[in-house]
Amino acid sequence: MKRTHHCAQLTAADLGATVSLIGWVDTVRDQGGIVFVDLRDRKGITQIQLEPHENAALGNVVKHLKLESVIGVTGKVIRRPAGTENPALPTGEVEVNATEIEIHNISETPPFPLDDAGGDKVNEDLRLTYRYLDLRRPKMRRNLQVRHRATKSIRDYFDAQEFIEVETPALFKSTPEGAREYLVPSRIHPGQFYALSQSPQQFKQILMVAGVERYFQIARCFRDEDLRADRQMEFTQVDVEASFITREDVHALFEGMLKKVWKDVLGTDIPTPFPRMSFHDAMNRFGVDKPDLRFGLELVDLSETFRNSAFKVFQATVAGGGAVKALNAKSLADLTQGELKNLEEIAKSLGAKGLAFIKVEGGEWKSPIVKFFTEAEKAALAQQLQVEEGDIIFFAAAPWEKACAILGRLRLEAAALLQKRGRLTIRPDDWKFLWVIDFPLMSYDEAENRYVATHHPFTAPVSEDVALLDSNPKAVRGQHYDVVLNGMELGGGSIRIHQPALQKKVFEDVLKIPADVVESRFGYMLKAFTYGAPPHGGIAFGLDRMVALLCGTTSIRDVIAFPKTQKGQDLMAQSPTPVTERQLKELHITTVLPE
Ligand code: AMO
Ligand code: AMP
Repeated sequence: MKRTHHCAQLTAADLGATVSLIGWVDTVRDQGGIVFVDLRDRKGITQIQLEPHENAALGNVVKHLKLESVIGVTGKVIRRPAGTENPALPTGEVEVNATEIEIHNISETPPFPLDDAGGDKVNEDLRLTYRYLDLRRPKMRRNLQVRHRATKSIRDYFDAQEFIEVETPALFKSTPEGAREYLVPSRIHPGQFYALSQSPQQFKQILMVAGVERYFQIARCFRDEDLRADRQMEFTQVDVEASFITREDVHALFEGMLKKVWKDVLGTDIPTPFPRMSFHDAMNRFGVDKPDLRFGLELVDLSETFRNSAFKVFQATVAGGGAVKALNAKSLADLTQGELKNLEEIAKSLGAKGLAFIKVEGGEWKSPIVKFFTEAEKAALAQQLQVEEGDIIFFAAAPWEKACAILGRLRLEAAALLQKRGRLTIRPDDWKFLWVIDFPLMSYDEAENRYVATHHPFTAPVSEDVALLDSNPKAVRGQHYDVVLNGMELGGGSIRIHQPALQKKVFEDVLKIPADVVESRFGYMLKAFTYGAPPHGGIAFGLDRMVALLCGTTSIRDVIAFPKTQKGQDLMAQSPTPVTERQLKELHITTVLPE
């Protein structure tokens, strides 16, 4: 079973040598008596040539050569006949004339083609059921390689910066403040539960109290969230924390890391420092806290223009403290009735009362609302939105954040429609990194009737704003930052609170968590902070999301070897499953199933 070479190795320099290769049968072509087999291993492909009529034993073997079978081949390296070379392969000048073939395993016929194009067309559930075959596809092999390269590059980077990797527990305690958790019943403590760690946040802060100063971890995190293309229940964070560090230090550290990863993996130089944008500007200009800066189509605020308008919908919104915002979807006036309807549905799903628009066609403004506008309003609008023939303008009149969010979503939809028409090019490798800063520390949760931490309760307020914690919590900015790439939130972090009194105040006075609950959930942290907690801060970012972008895919399932489906199932191993009565009893659990 020993190979002398791998399948991407042989060249004209090896002509005449006797070699042994081992791998999978990629293709078989019978060309009038001579059989050609492409033999594949993890490195590449070598063409094998067999002449069954000259060798009866070989002829017999060839009959069993089903695709994806595993065989060993011994033979002589010969030159391919002139005109049959394949310049696309490193081994394209040569082939191996087989004298001996050993069959290690005959494959069943795979349920889908294992080339990139064929595999992309099949249903993802089928690929996930046969993930071991799916991972044989060149694209998926490359994705695993990229992930490995990126991870190695990150470890090397932090090691060089004198960070140490420390593992923290996956079995942690329940902290219902964050995302929904996975609970793990304790056998030895009846009725008690661990929770799978949502992130190493609390442990990494404790490591700072422990004097580690520079920590990182490539950490598995667990969150019971509704799954999407960019979300899994089990995912990987690159988690970092350091002491005596400012926001700018964290930015520089992380920019250095991303620069190295892009260089090591793609050979691309990304410019640093990344631009910064306040949360307010991101929302106001792009309608989202993770703006995609690869294209324009910025939102425009028309509140002042319509403050005294005769159009009551706009006038009343501004009078009530809301905003009138508009988006000029350049050259999209030819959108179909169906597309317009769809945009309206989307706007409504985000809470819009309607979707007013102006279409500019044949020099005319076609719109259900222009009749309410004065000439002066029309002129101001034309100027602010640079209205031209072929444009369509959308309006949202609502509380500021909602108006921004509605148009922010329409901006993305409009960009997709423009791309479809070939009027806008958005390249996946146009890397537009951005720091979003100055988030509000708290946001008001209408349903719960109290403030909740925008990020998490350990984020420190901007020092000038601490005085506002009691009087106007909404106005307090947090020392939180997100790193955004091409419309995706790659990571987020903050400078933390390290004074126990301030942390207690945030828990009890601002977040209104009862003192005894604070004590039982976070008492150990508050106590640790009384023993010389250094000022500290950090960040965590989604490794899966970063690797997906590096691989040019939009689904993190493509860069996770064994992901779960949208419904949280592992279709290959088939989980989750029921367990035995005995297991449940041992864990002191009875189940009540839905009807
Ligand atoms: P946060 O909750 O923002 O911060 O998570 C950090 C990053 O992790 C990634 N991420 C996910 N990726 C895939 N699937 C998921 N379900 C998922 N959830 C999050 C995102 C996100 O930006 N402890 C803090 C960080 C800190 O303050 O240092 C934290 O976990 O890319
Ligand atoms: P109405 O006066 O309610 O018939 O609305 C006139 C137009 O404005 C319709 O096209 C509605 O879809 C649209 N519209 C109504 N409310 C809003 C709003 N809050 N923001 C944007 N457009 C709106």
